Amino acid sequence: MASPYPDGDREKVASKLPPALQRELKIRCAELVLDIQDAVEAAIIAWRSSTGPFPDIDTAGAKSFSPWLPPGLYDDFRETCGSRGVSYTQGLAQSISEWLREHPSPKDAARPTDPQRIVVANQKGGVGKTSVSLGLGEAYAEDPEAGHQALSQFVESLAYSDLKRMGKSKTQLLDMLAELTVGGRRVLVVDYDPQSHLSDQLGIPQIRPGGESLARHMVGESDGDLRDLIVTIDDPRFERRLHVLPGAFDGFVLDSKLALTAAQSRGFQKEIALERALRPIESDYDVVIIDCPPSLGLSMDAGLYYARRRRNERPGRSGVLIPVQAEDSSATAYNMLVEQIEDLRKDLVLDIDYLGLVVNQYDSRRGYVATSSLEQWGSLADQQVLAVLDDLKEQREAVRMKQPLLSYAPASKQANTMRLIAMGAAK
Ligand SMILES: Nc1ncnc2c1ncn2[C@@H]1O[C@H](COP(=O)(O)OP(=O)(O)OP(=O)(O)O)[C@@H](O)[C@H]1O
Ligand SMILES: [Mg+2]
Repeated sequence: MASPYPDGDREKVASKLPPALQRELKIRCAELVLDIQDAVEAAIIAWRSSTGPFPDIDTAGAKSFSPWLPPGLYDDFRETCGSRGVSYTQGLAQSISEWLREHPSPKDAARPTDPQRIVVANQKGGVGKTSVSLGLGEAYAEDPEAGHQALSQFVESLAYSDLKRMGKSKTQLLDMLAELTVGGRRVLVVDYDPQSHLSDQLGIPQIRPGGESLARHMVGESDGDLRDLIVTIDDPRFERRLHVLPGAFDGFVLDSKLALTAAQSRGFQKEIALERALRPIESDYDVVIIDCPPSLGLSMDAGLYYARRRRNERPGRSGVLIPVQAEDSSATAYNMLVEQIEDLRKDLVLDIDYLGLVVNQYDSRRGYVATSSLEQWGSLADQQVLAVLDDLKEQREAVRMKQPLLSYAPASKQANTMRLIAMGAAK
């Protein structure tokens, strides 16, 4: 066959690619009106410059595939395959798969196929990260009818002081309720904290040292299916939509493992480790919530990276949600967290949205420190206070009973506030 590139600015290379990928690539290029050779070139360049670990692609049955590439690119590609320890077929399959993911079909572009991702973070301990992560997950997953009924009754019963704090009238809230639903979503709550309080609160055992875990997946020590670790909350209120990825003891050494893996394996980028590990199971969920540990280490960077706004994603859909308390030490911790988020944003050129603050365990009887702190939280330029939660006994009781809060006390103020945050009406 005569070369379609007579000037020699491209060379034909003999390689292999699974037929399904070849087909998908051809269709996508047609949809996006792109030259298939340009797409393969861009895919290889991106794969070489991007960092792993990449999910393994099933290349069984790969068939001959011979793209035209700029001279030298295929040699460079083969060298990268060698350094990553993958076959040329696997390397090419990874490159094309990644490119297809980054270049979605216009048919899908308007449809949010990525789950909404809520990363609940604050390195200050005991501020309510776990309670908020779990409560929100429950609110997103519960039976919409039950949630709606409980919320309507709650709004009807709200006192003037509550409404004032929320900055909404009863009519406004009821109107919102008439238009929006809460619940009915497939939810994964990730216990990303090695203390594993979230798992423990539901009576789910922490993953023992050395066991297959998210932490080990993140550093490439496991290649099993994360789905095998996920626990479905067996409670009729959630109709098998609420799932938990349990915490693992090995998470305590995740920061050092991330640093070590990055030092030892060329191309391993520690910030994207959580995303890489979770991506294969994301399509099972509408919402993924990450309950972060009280720390600011490398694993937190990976957690914050997971909150980033993805291509075509509506601003404010995914991001970081920060529980705080109305006291001075919470303000110091908050400033440090924001500094870390801003550094990551600048270093990796990311958009990370702030979803807002939940002021937890608020007690105005604590006087000026509490009331003035609450005012300060309300005056931050980049943040909005999504909700103010009092110190509520039902929260502690649910933990003690190892039951989901929305099952243990479905009509409680804590449960309804979680529904309001999930619905966006608490904004
Ligand atoms: N609004 C509330 N009212 C009463 N108790 C609460 C409330 N919020 C949280 N708690 C209780 O306070 C304790 C700490 O809360 P939680 O575990 O959610 O904080 P955390 O930020 O996740 O802590 P850590 O930093 O250790 O992970 C828990 O026992 C929880 O049940
Ligand atoms: Mg916690």
